[in-house]
Amino acid sequence: MKITEIVQTALITATIIILGMIPPLPLGFIPVPIVMQNLGIMLAAVILGPKKGTLAIFGFLLLALIGFPVLSGGQAGPAFFVGPTGGYLLGWLLTPLMIGYGLSRPFINRRWSRLSIIRFAGVLLVDVIGSVWLWLVSPISLIGSLVLNLAFIPADTLKAVAVYLVAERMRIWNKETTRL
Ligand code: BTN
Repeated sequence: MKITEIVQTALITATIIILGMIPPLPLGFIPVPIVMQNLGIMLAAVILGPKKGTLAIFGFLLLALIGFPVLSGGQAGPAFFVGPTGGYLLGWLLTPLMIGYGLSRPFINRRWSRLSIIRFAGVLLVDVIGSVWLWLVSPISLIGSLVLNLAFIPADTLKAVAVYLVAERMRIWNKETTRL
């Protein structure tokens, strides 16, 4: 990895951490808050591509795991990886691979298809992984968990649109950032 790539990756990790300083919004009816950090996760996937994106998110999650207060609201520790929000953290780690796979498909060359991939992989798949995990670790049923997670879709879709617009502005749709 070149020095510029290392700096780029570290800057995106820092961006994810800074987004975590925006206080999470508790919803009351589900033990998972609305956060801004998943915008940074999608940004990492789209700007850095599958390999460096995974590295940036892995670094961020490692910091959280060993106790640096980098999760939303200054939280940290192994408990978050096995608690109600653990599935989303797993989904975040897989996001660059999922988005990278989608964007690398030959037919993905139009605006709507790129936005759809970011939304499908960065929002819907993460929310489904999070829902299944929540069902496994809480008394909430699977259907209940999936239904409750619908609450995240509107804000998460806006985040996906924001990420798409940043990527469009940066013109990053080249082979290097989308190659698996
Ligand atoms: C954590 O800080 O422990 C992780 C929080 C995960 C929140 C998830 S990410 C997808 C969905 N969209 C949100 O705004 N909140 C949930």
